Parts: sequence; structure tokens; C-alpha cells
Amino acid sequence: MSASPSAFKPAAELGTIGLLRRLFAEHARKHVLAYIAAAVLLAVGAGATSASAWLLKPIVNGMVGNGAFKELRTMSWTVWGLFSLRGLVTFGSLALLSRAGNRIVADIQRQLFDGLLAQDMRFYHDRHSAEFMTRLSLSANGMRDALQLTITSISRDALTAIGLIAVMVLQDPILAFIALASLPVAAVTLGRLMGKIRKFARRSFDGSTRIVETLQEAVLGAKIVKSFNLEENMRTRMASAIREVERSANRMAITAAISNPISDVLAGFAIGAVIFYGSWRVTIQHADPGALFSFIAALMLAYEPLKRLGRSNLDIQNGLIGARMIYEILDRPAVEAVVAGRPPLSVNEGRIVFDDVRFGYRTGENVLKGVSFVAEPNKTTALVGPSGGGKSTIIGLIQRFFAPDGGRILIDSVDIASVNLHSLRASIAFVSQDVFLFRGSIRDNIALGRAGASEADIVGAAIKAHAHDFICGFGDGYATDIGEQGAQLSGGQRARIAIARAILKDAPILLLDEPTAALDSESEREIQKALDDLRVGRTTIVVAHRLQTIINADRICVIDGGQVAESGNHTELIAGNGVYQDFFATQFGEQARTPALSSQERRSANFKNVQYP
Ligand SMILES: Nc1ncnc2c1ncn2[C@@H]1O[C@H](COP(=O)(O)OP(=O)(O)OP(=O)(O)O)[C@@H](O)[C@H]1O
Ligand SMILES: [Mg+2]
Repeated sequence: MSASPSAFKPAAELGTIGLLRRLFAEHARKHVLAYIAAAVLLAVGAGATSASAWLLKPIVNGMVGNGAFKELRTMSWTVWGLFSLRGLVTFGSLALLSRAGNRIVADIQRQLFDGLLAQDMRFYHDRHSAEFMTRLSLSANGMRDALQLTITSISRDALTAIGLIAVMVLQDPILAFIALASLPVAAVTLGRLMGKIRKFARRSFDGSTRIVETLQEAVLGAKIVKSFNLEENMRTRMASAIREVERSANRMAITAAISNPISDVLAGFAIGAVIFYGSWRVTIQHADPGALFSFIAALMLAYEPLKRLGRSNLDIQNGLIGARMIYEILDRPAVEAVVAGRPPLSVNEGRIVFDDVRFGYRTGENVLKGVSFVAEPNKTTALVGPSGGGKSTIIGLIQRFFAPDGGRILIDSVDIASVNLHSLRASIAFVSQDVFLFRGSIRDNIALGRAGASEADIVGAAIKAHAHDFICGFGDGYATDIGEQGAQLSGGQRARIAIARAILKDAPILLLDEPTAALDSESEREIQKALDDLRVGRTTIVVAHRLQTIINADRICVIDGGQVAESGNHTELIAGNGVYQDFFATQFGEQARTPALSSQERRSANFKNVQYP
């Protein structure tokens, strides 16, 4: 388990400067040349702006005095040249900054996704997927904006302001003091506003997350939404999320906009004071009018960049909220990272042993209270028992989705805690209780079972999974698009595609969590046949809900209340008068008690279970 990858303090404890330093150290360093080049270009632009203000002194004095028209003509060309130069360097710097910035967003998105993939199941269970979507899009952009703005404000606006302030001080130090006296007042007021903006930005982010969340649930759960007439319910949820975002956006905009009157009032006061004092100097004391002109031009030119500096500060704060949220995920230890030096698991026989395994999803809660059983190679072990007893949990622990709180799980006498996680999962083919299909075609979905599988392998697996016939029934065959999460397929078809995927994987250990969802007896039988084929020559553990699976199992473990209450084969257990007998009777009725059922009886028992679970 790698510790936090960063040398920095946790993001929540870092202030603005700390976060910016981290952003630069971790992301901007790679693009340092581009950033330096952009900063130089922006500085040239700042210089050009200051120079054009500086030039006003000789221009005005030339006009007022009896200066030569020829010189003034050269000046006008120079001013044009300076402005054009500023336009060109601004273009160059923006191009450089955008490329570097977009690259950083791409890097962050990759890193964030890698960070997510390296988390364990517990992490996913605790969160809604919408949260990740907003982080991946909004927050990554926020991080880029914070970096970009820092660079543009420092190189362009701060340098322009410094250059122009220098012009003012050189032209008239006393005037400069009068003009700049309002700056500290502005800085303090803007600082106050910033704290407020940060709060609203966080709220707006939470609102955006809830918008994505509601949208996702409304679309994925469209069937339930319609059937239960939940449109109004979803609309209310969405409206409240949208209102939250709208309200925070308004508050943010208003707070940011307040900076305008504040700076305008202060700037107007400064300019008025300058004109008052300046005109007194020029008219009464006969001071140099060119210097006053140049001074006023510099003051007016400095106004915009100074205002932008205040404004960028607000926007940088906003972007840093995204940075903080991304670092929260990036700084989590990569729980599932491959620990160097762990040997790969090599499965020979495939004997799986549970040795007093204890586990709870939450601290202080026991879902498994000391589970011990052996799943023999080449045999099928069925886990049966009441809902919520811990059967799916056992299947998850074998794949080490979670680490047990106590006890050991051994495969061929090797504790799975000590082996390479990737090799463990490569040795297991898993069909989950709730089938998951990915975007794409049927072929794509089966092919995920084994990288580089040939078309013949894929079709072979589909035939064994009794899926080939229905696939060929579709116009596009294996290229048929299945829609989001397989929405265009029936439950039984989805299950058979998942089984084909597991067949293709051809792993020595097979874990099946039978879907509890009702299937018609035809697809039920097809799936049964597919699974019978798949079990040959492997260690199979199956969470069994169906009569045939249970009766055909070599060994049955009754999981009740987080423990193995009873185990044995069907004949032994049914004779034992224990929990199995009760379980079986309630599940399948008295008529299914005898193991030697006729196929007609089995089907009707099954049918009964399916229709009236
Ligand atoms: N991600 C989770 N977080 C917290 N508790 C969980 C989680 N998954 C399952 N549980 C709890 O663990 C217990 C066992 O659940 P499990 O899914 O293993 O039951 P099961 O035997 O497979 O039931 P079923 O037959 O209904 O599929 C249940 O009480 C359940 O509430
Ligand atoms: Mg289950």
C-alpha cells in the first residue's frame, strides 16, 4: 500500500498559496518552458503598454510647445507599433498557455481516473457515481483555470500595473502617492468578498453533483420512474438541485460584481484627486503638462489590470475549490495497487478453503461470523440460505473486493492476502447476481472475458452459453448494440452473455451468483445447461437459488446469519431434519423434497418458485 503520493500536506489543510505551490510543483513543472515563454511574452506586452503611456509626455509637450511635426509623426508610428506588438504577444502567450493548460486538464483527468480504479469496493459503495463525474469534468477545469489565471494575472496584469505605477512615480511621485492611496482599501475589501465566494462555489459544486445524480437516476431508472409515476418526484429533486446551483451562481456573481462599484468608487476618487492636484500644479504652478497627461494615461491604463487582478483572485479561489476536491481523491492511498514483490497466484488443483473468516462492511458490524468450509476442486459447492445471509459477501471476499477482518481464505494452501491481486482475479471467472454489461455490441461484451480472443473463440463461448441462437436472431448478430447496461436485452439474454464472457475467460475457478430475478423456464433451462458445461474441470462455488442447481451440487453449505449452519449433499441434508430442510420446504414446497424428481416435477417446482417467490 503506497502512502500518500504527495510531499504536501492534505489538501484540506493547504491555504491558497500552498495549493497553488502544489499545483505548480505537480503539474506546471512539466510545462515550465511554455510558461516561461508565455510569461516573457506577457511581460513584453506589459512593457508595451507602459511605454505607450510614457510616450505621451514628449507627445503632449511637443504639441503644446513648438515641437517638430516630424518627430511627433514618428511617435504616432511608434504608438501603433507598440499596440500591435502587444496584440501579437498576447496571441502568442494565450496559445502557449491554453495548450499547456489543456494538457494539464488531460493529465489530471487521467490521474484521477487511475486513482479511482485503484480504490477498493468500499470506496465505491460509499459514494454516488455522479460525484466522480463532476470531479472529473468541473474540478479538472477549475484546476486549469486556477493555474492559467495565476500566470496571466502575475505576468500580464501585475507586470502591467507595476510598469504603469513606475511611470506614474517617475512622472510625479506626489501624484502617484495620492492616486495609489486607495489601493490598500480595495485590497482589504476584496479579501472580505473572497471568503464569501469560496462558500458559494462549494455549494454550487454540490448542487451540480446533485443535478448529475438526479439525471443519471432518472435515465437509468426510467422504467421505475414511469411505472411508479415518479416524474413529479424527480422533477422536484432536479428543481431543488438546479435552484441551489442558480442561487449560488447568483450570489457568486453578485459578490464578484460588488468588486466593480467598490473599485470604481475608489478609482474615481483617485482620478478626481489627481486631476484636482494636477491641474492646480499645471495652471497655477506651471508644471509640465506632458508629465500630467502621461501620468493620467498611466493611471487610466493601470485601472483595468488592477481591477482584473482583484477579480482573478476571486476566480483563482473558485478554481482552487476544484483542485482541493481532486486532491482529496488523488491523495488516498491506492488500496488496490500492485504491491511489489507479491508472488502471483498459480492455481493447480483449485481447492478453496475458508478458515474462520470474519467480516463486516461497517466497523462493529458482523456480516460473516467465522465462516469455514472447503470447496473441492472439480466439484460444485452451492451456497444456499436466506436473503441477506452473506452469500454474495463470501463470493466477493474470494475475489478480495474486501479484506476479511479475521481468518484466512486459502487457494491451494496459499493465503490470497499474500498474492498479487491481478493474478488472483485472473484465476477466477465470475458471473454476478446483477449482470453488468458495458456500452457496445454483444461481441464487445463477450470479448471482455479474454483480451485478444478470436472471433471463433467468442462464437464458441456464446454457443456454450446457449446464447448463439438468440444472438443470430438479431439483424446485426454479434454486432448488435445492446444499449446502456444491456437495456435492449431480456434478463435471461443478459445473463447468458455474462456467462459467455465467463466461459471465454476459461479460468480454473468459477464463481456464480445466481440472479434471483425470475426467468422463464425456457431461459432458465438454457442457462442451467450453459452452467453445467462451464463447471466441468473447475472449482465452482455457486450461490444457488434454483432447485436444480441446489440438487445437482456436490456439496451444499447453508449460510445463515453469517455462519455455515449446515453442510453436506442434498440427500444427506434433507435426511438431517436441520435448517436445510426448513429452508428447502419453504423455498420449493413439500413436493420437491425427494431428490429423484421427474423433470416435469422439477420444472413445476421451479416454475412455482419463479412465479411466487
Ligand atoms: N456494500 C455493503 N455495505 C454494507 N452492507 C452490505 C453491503 N453489501 C451487503 N451488505 C449487508 O451484508 C449482509 C449480507 O449481504 P449479502 O449480499 O452477502 O447477502 P446474500 O446472502 O447474498 O443475500 P441475497 O440472497 O439476497 O443475495 C446484508 O445484511 C447486507 O445488508
Ligand atoms: Mg446475494
